[in-house]
Amino acid sequence: MQTLQNSSDTHLNPSELDETVEVISITHWTKSLFSFRLQRPKSFRFNSGEFILLGLTDNTGKSVLRAYSIASPSWDDTLLFYSISVEDGPLTSMLSKIKKGDGVILKRKPTGTLVLNALRPGKKLFLFATGTGIAPFASLIRDPLIYENFAEIILVHTCRMREDLAFGQLILDLRKKDSLLKGSNKKQLKYFPTLTREKFVNEGRITDLIISGVFFREIGILGFCSESDRAMVCGSLDFNKEMKTILLNAGLAEGSISDPGDFVLERAFVG
Ligand code: A2P
Repeated sequence: MQTLQNSSDTHLNPSELDETVEVISITHWTKSLFSFRLQRPKSFRFNSGEFILLGLTDNTGKSVLRAYSIASPSWDDTLLFYSISVEDGPLTSMLSKIKKGDGVILKRKPTGTLVLNALRPGKKLFLFATGTGIAPFASLIRDPLIYENFAEIILVHTCRMREDLAFGQLILDLRKKDSLLKGSNKKQLKYFPTLTREKFVNEGRITDLIISGVFFREIGILGFCSESDRAMVCGSLDFNKEMKTILLNAGLAEGSISDPGDFVLERAFVG
């Protein structure tokens, strides 16, 4: 899905070159989840929902870069990212220790399929995420464009524990204050969190809740409608595979930017 480019690649045009940008802030949500905000280079453009390569230099002087979804909307002055921290992860073990004022390498080549123009027109848009897979949707739900394209948006987030929902809830709070969104836009979004390892109002994996029908009952619909429902999926490989089967069985077709369809998938950053 994504190609890592070597930082010594000489065939890149200037807009794709590495650039070091400053860390504005970092927030540790749990022992293993953190978010960080970076300065946005003035001429850096992207579409809400896209990812870029970012990273750090390790102690041998080598750039360690990984794909990260941008969690802030395309209109924001800064760039927000949401990450898991893996103890022996080559990048995240370093990244989780960054401080305000540090430099992070950014490659200016945003890409990805979780963008509005990869979907055919529709009425209802489902955004299905597990874990850090919520990052691209954190960007999209604060972009006025999504509310012009869809009458209703349902953000679904499955996590293990209640504390894992905190970043998503911050985004929902920020969204409430977004002046670019109209009051009516704010009512177009429904939020459906589920937890798998703690007692909660919605318990279980979203895949199981869809198959059992509990999800549809809770949000007050009979099922997916291939004519007017669209979906974006971002999670682990297994999650994406299971969601793909569910959506194909419901008659939805997978899309891409070159061939827009009813749903699109992208793997969440894993470590
Ligand atoms: P579970 O606790 O049952 O594994 P992780 O922290 O491992 O990235 O997982 C994030 C959330 O995604 C957890 O709640 C996890 O549930 C859920 N999950 C993991 N794999 C799948 C899958 N294949 N389908 C649905 N949910 C999944």
